[in-house]
Amino acid sequence: MKTIKQLLTMKEQKEKITMVTAYDYPSAKQVEQAGIDTILVGDSLGMVVLGYDSTVQVTVDDMIHHTKAVRRGAPDSYIIIDVPFGAVGIDHTTDMQNAIKLYKETTANAVKIEGFHLKLIEGCTQIGVPVVSHLGLTPQTVGITGYKLQAGSKEEAEQLIIHAKEVEAAGAVMLVLEAIPSDLAEVISTQLTIPVIGIGAGNGTDGQVLVYHDLLNYGSEHVAKFVKQYGDFSTGVDALKQYNQEVKSGAFPSEAYTYKKKVMGEKE
Ligand code: KIV
Repeated sequence: MKTIKQLLTMKEQKEKITMVTAYDYPSAKQVEQAGIDTILVGDSLGMVVLGYDSTVQVTVDDMIHHTKAVRRGAPDSYIIIDVPFGAVGIDHTTDMQNAIKLYKETTANAVKIEGFHLKLIEGCTQIGVPVVSHLGLTPQTVGITGYKLQAGSKEEAEQLIIHAKEVEAAGAVMLVLEAIPSDLAEVISTQLTIPVIGIGAGNGTDGQVLVYHDLLNYGSEHVAKFVKQYGDFSTGVDALKQYNQEVKSGAFPSEAYTYKKKVMGEKE
């Protein structure tokens, strides 16, 4: 398992850090087998696994249920768990209790907090819960921002640089930057000591994260411009169609898939 110290060294040595989401035992197993540096159990699970139209409906219990399965599939990976919508921004004590519950019950290595929640980052860090901060486009607030490029103006860009430095100062061990201009992402990555992982933020960050289902074309209906599809799990539909056809025609199960021992009438 990669440690935060090793991830920091990777940044220093300009070795790119990889992160992919996983939500269950088989996806986690595949991501670990592929040698990906870190796994994110993103609340994107609400959309790509649970079929919601946003991440907003995802609960703390959903996150815990899925992250436990991911840990079973990837026992040797650095796992980050998203703190879902509604579990942050209530009051400091409740926010802390939610973060602790997510961290403690799943054995994740860090929690990821969307948005600029300095006090919570400080509180978690103080008691030993590593925090990955997520700035730029934060899908939990798309109700307000929409799914579009963030920090597109000079003022917004300057504000984001300040926020990035503040989350680092508050103790964040890593920063995810989503859907921001690539030159801005590069500036932030250069100015911060902690690893900066980009998604839709160009090639100048210390690493990249993609959603498993997007990367593998597995049930995703809409993929953003920044997604490259490296595989095609949609071919599963063709396999299922063939199975359907073969059962209906009687072609499956053929002899090769049949126990031949006779127990009905005939002697062996
Ligand atoms: O939930 C998620 O998958 C994420 C990534 C897109 C960074 O937050």
